[in-house]
Amino acid sequence: MPIVQIHNSADSFEQTERHDSILRAGLGAGLGLSYECNSGGCGSCKFELIEGEVEELWPEAPGLTARDLKKGRKLACQCRAKSDLVISMRTDESFRPVILPVRFQATLESRRELTSDITEFCFRGPAPARFLPGQYTMLSLDGVPCPRAYSMSNLANTEGVWEFWIRKKPGGRVTEPLFAMLEPGDQVGLDGPYGLAFLKADAPRDVLCIAGGSGISPVLSIARGLLNNPTMVGRKLHFFFGGRTPADICGLEELKALPSFAERVCFHAAISEPKPEDGWEGAVGFIHDTVVQVLGGSLGNYECYLAGPPPMVQATTKMLLLDEGVPAEQVHFDRFF
Ligand SMILES: Cc1cc2nc3c(=O)[nH]c(=O)nc-3n(C[C@H](O)[C@H](O)[C@H](O)COP(=O)(O)OP(=O)(O)OC[C@H]3O[C@@H](n4cnc5c(N)ncnc54)[C@H](O)[C@@H]3O)c2cc1C
Ligand code: FES
Repeated sequence: MPIVQIHNSADSFEQTERHDSILRAGLGAGLGLSYECNSGGCGSCKFELIEGEVEELWPEAPGLTARDLKKGRKLACQCRAKSDLVISMRTDESFRPVILPVRFQATLESRRELTSDITEFCFRGPAPARFLPGQYTMLSLDGVPCPRAYSMSNLANTEGVWEFWIRKKPGGRVTEPLFAMLEPGDQVGLDGPYGLAFLKADAPRDVLCIAGGSGISPVLSIARGLLNNPTMVGRKLHFFFGGRTPADICGLEELKALPSFAERVCFHAAISEPKPEDGWEGAVGFIHDTVVQVLGGSLGNYECYLAGPPPMVQATTKMLLLDEGVPAEQVHFDRFF
């Protein structure tokens, strides 16, 4: 099988599975290759090919700019090695996987409608479910050529349960068949965990979670991880969730079921498209503006976790890093490309 050598470093790894991307093979070997989405959207896994030949799985992936294409750069999450390679790619200890990703088949045990377009899908795999709160897994459906990333909403467990809150995207090649056809007993392929925006249990600050839409899935896992971790009992949680209408707001019931919810959690919701007939009395506008209204001026005191669509994460990171001066090491996010 092809060997991939990182230029100007002692690091190398073997692409042991024919269908692995270069990124998956490297992370699977325990290397700290730079990445974020594993889905071709963010561009964090760019590399330059110095020697060898690759197969490009999605040459038009939006993670590459026109300049990248001109310079011949490629995405490690969207390329497979066809021969031994030498590549120039960013590596760092901070990208090294804490838990190595594994591939397995999982069976749908149950599904539960949460809002008009978000459903909880609960799968069971053959071995204990090992992941950190806030991480995601790649889900493959038979007949759909490339997997999609979904963040777990539950916590690691010995029973092998993987729970996801998934939003239906009209015309989506994975979510359409998932919502229309997947019934208890059906199988999917899972590959994970991935992701770096996981709960930092040793950070000494209170926690701020900010989610938009289906971004609630990983931050719910972070909230569950925080409130169930005996070493984090002193930390409080501000949980902000933004939707378009009151019917989009979910997750409060699950948060209320957590130990010490009343003493440690403040839940804030905002909607961006209010109608007079909704009778909504809560905050109106984008969720990052609500965060400023409630906590502005003190945001540097929090460890911040964000998840949701790229524009929401972009507006929120700008607010935190530039307007409020929160140190970048305290801001952790996953953009849902
Ligand atoms: C880190 C991360 C975590 C996520 N977590 C969640 C979650 O918890 N809940 C949730 O509802 N959504 C989540 N998403 C979004 C999810 O992965 C899908 O993008 C979404 O469900 C739409 O998929 P679709 O196939 O229905 O739509 P489509 O429009 O068919 O596909 C959308 C996505 O698929 C990928 N894609 C498209 N074409 C190709 C191609 N040729 N090759 C490879 N990839 C391609 C791109 O990333 C694109 O954005 C997450 C995304 C990321 C990156
Ligand atoms: S990790 Fe490859 S484009 Fe995001």
